[in-house]
Parts: sequence; structure tokens; C-alpha cells
Amino acid sequence: MDIKTLNNQITNCKKCHLWTTRKHVVPGEGNVNADVMFIGEAPGKIEDETGRPFVGRAGKLLDDTFKKVGITRQDVFITSILKCRPPNNRNPRKDEVEACTPYTLEQIKIISPKVIVPLGNVALKWLNKMFGLNIGPITKSHGKCYNAKQFGMKIKIMPIYHPAYVLRGLPSRRPVFESDMQKIFLNI
Ligand code: URA
Ligand code: SF4
Repeated sequence: MDIKTLNNQITNCKKCHLWTTRKHVVPGEGNVNADVMFIGEAPGKIEDETGRPFVGRAGKLLDDTFKKVGITRQDVFITSILKCRPPNNRNPRKDEVEACTPYTLEQIKIISPKVIVPLGNVALKWLNKMFGLNIGPITKSHGKCYNAKQFGMKIKIMPIYHPAYVLRGLPSRRPVFESDMQKIFLNI
């Protein structure tokens, strides 16, 4: 499948009930030939309003950090496990994740990234389950590099904190987030 066909399917999706409350679907965006693919959790308010991933406060931190390490959004691909916003930003439910998962797996196949970056523990756990991995919690595994094989491809997994987690924590989380990000782009 090509990315356009997939995006069309996602944009028109009614596979879980989140379609009834969303304003916009947020399929993800960036470079289809990207070496690095970021996977977050679910769209928030601004993402739902705009149809674009990571454009709220967490997205601003992501953009600022990209700038610091010398890359732009156009160099990477950014998406989330869920493509529609859960009402009031509640946690994704199991049935929603199950319904949406084939889309993210198809994105991985199409993009065939060298590195997948789960943003935070929810995305990391999802990736562990999908790839049959056992990478430890984000507090221990962030900034490290793990080798995986999936869909016949060798893929490195480099978990980093979720930018929202960085924002709500002590200022000391920021330099950690930046140096973890730097490591990703030194690795490819
Ligand atoms: N958090 C996410 O996980 N994804 C977004 O698109 C925005 C915030
Ligand atoms: Fe479809 Fe995913 Fe949106 Fe549910 S969250 S309606 S599965 S695109």
C-alpha cells in the first residue's frame, strides 16, 4: 500500500467509536522515506483541531529539541498509536488501540525506518507487544538503543521521554531529553 491510500483510509476511519467525538483525524506526517519514526500516544486538543500531530505544548518542545539537534520535522515521520483524540484526553482504551494498531503497523512497513522512537511508556509498551520485545520501563530505557527485527527489517528502537512528561517534571528532565534526542541522530 502507498502512504496516500493509507492516509485516506485513516482519515475516513470509523473502526472505533472515537470517530464520533473527533474533529479531525491525525494520521501523522513527515517524510515517507524518513530514517527515524516517532510514535506518541494519542492526539490532544490542538491536534484534534488541526489534524496535525504534536502541535500543542508538547509539540513545541519537540520542535525546539529538533532544532537544537539540527533537524526539522521534514526529516522524520511523526505519528501516534491512536489517530483520533480520546475525549478529555483520557487514556486510550484497549479496544481503541486494537482497532487503530493496523494503521501504525502499515505506516512502519511503508516508511521502513532505521530507528523507531517510542515517545514515553505507553508507546514503548505498545511497541514491546507488537514486536515481541521486552524493553524495560522508559525511566530505565530512555536514551538507549535496542535491536529489533520486524517485517523482515532490522529496526533500532530508541525510546525517549514523552515531551509532555518532560514539561510537567523538573527542569532537569530537559537536558536529558535533548541528549537522548541527540543520540538518535548520531546513531543513523
Ligand atoms: N501527544 C501525543 O502522543 N501525540 C500527539 O499527537 C500529541 C500529543
Ligand atoms: Fe479509526 Fe483509529 Fe480513529 Fe479509532 S482512533 S476511529 S481506529 S483512526
